[in-house]
Amino acid sequence: MKNYTSYFSEFLDGHKGYLHFRGHSHHFWPDVTKNAILEYFNDSKRLSDDKWEKIFGEKIPLAQKLISEILQFTQPKNIVFAPNTHELVFRLITALLSRNKKIKILTTDSEFLSFDRQIKRLLEEDWIELKVIATNPFFNIAQDVIKAGKTFSPDLVFISQVFFNSGVALYQEEIEQLAFEFRGKSLLVIDGYHAFMAIPTSLSKIGNDIFYLAGSYKYLGAGEGLCFMTIPEGCNLRPVYTGWFADLAHLDSAQTKIYYPNDGLRFAGSTMDFSSLYKLIAVLENYKREEISVLKIHKHVQDLQKYFLEECRRINHPVLNQSQILIRDLEHHGHFFSFKVKDESSAKNIAEQLKLNKILVDTRGDRVRFGFAIYHQPNFKLNFSGISNTNL
Ligand SMILES: Cc1ncc(COP(=O)(O)O)c(C=O)c1O
Repeated sequence: MKNYTSYFSEFLDGHKGYLHFRGHSHHFWPDVTKNAILEYFNDSKRLSDDKWEKIFGEKIPLAQKLISEILQFTQPKNIVFAPNTHELVFRLITALLSRNKKIKILTTDSEFLSFDRQIKRLLEEDWIELKVIATNPFFNIAQDVIKAGKTFSPDLVFISQVFFNSGVALYQEEIEQLAFEFRGKSLLVIDGYHAFMAIPTSLSKIGNDIFYLAGSYKYLGAGEGLCFMTIPEGCNLRPVYTGWFADLAHLDSAQTKIYYPNDGLRFAGSTMDFSSLYKLIAVLENYKREEISVLKIHKHVQDLQKYFLEECRRINHPVLNQSQILIRDLEHHGHFFSFKVKDESSAKNIAEQLKLNKILVDTRGDRVRFGFAIYHQPNFKLNFSGISNTNL
């Protein structure tokens, strides 16, 4: 099995003595990101306000190209960047605002907090109508969403590719079915935050039908501050929440009309720190040079997951038992395992005890999440001591 640890020597050193099973939360950054930060500093030092020309003229097109290669997205110019997904999603929602009609949103009960909180707040204001599909049992999520769409006729459908609270992943065919089903009827957002750089994904057939969201904080390992969204070719939506990056072409003329460009910048906001874009480019160029594909990353993690399950079977722990892991298909699963435990406070207690045992995990409600990454090797020893049904 290939050993990728040398690419992560800095962060591994920063966590010496600990098993960092939080790659799904804050993935380690490969060492190349250190120089990328320096490069950003040097460009700022040298170019100051002229740096935007370099960023928009060279760096953004390069990042768009590298991301498009990974996702087989055929229109790199239709990728827009923002500091987080919340901004992008909210911008998209504002493009649907109308004085006469509520926005109909179809989603699942397992979407990340940013989206979940935002739509609940919009619901309080009576701006939207909401239909939420249960993800558990996991078997037919995509079909359930398609079925609900037929009667609900949503304006917007929002669904994760990998659910943050279970790791359960939609199949490529399911994403394509959703895209074909909602084509021309509803906007479809696939939240690929837990899939990008983890699960091989192709937008080649559906890139012009969906909005695909992801970021650099997770499996890409370029840290916080950079997310992106692909938009369909020909998209003519006019987000109400819009910033000056969306009209760089008319920067020097008086703005009598609100223009939108015919590419990803249509969904752009305004001034942001692009150091994470430099980091993203450094990571993706390095992976390209070293021929580290998403498929290789995924296979490495799948081997780690099999090893982890063997360890669990060996220990056969009463609380962190393999039977408690939420899985639909081990051959197609996100890069973390989610143990369903008694309740939220049990989950927190378990995470605290594991930390004392030098194992770093995180929790979401009654779930304890163990994440795997290419900076692990299948030789770790799990220590679940101090955790029992009686002390939770
Ligand atoms: C599924 C999913 N989407 C999006 C995000 C990030 O949201 P934001 O960019 O608003 O912080 C996360 C964060 O963990 C997530 O799990």
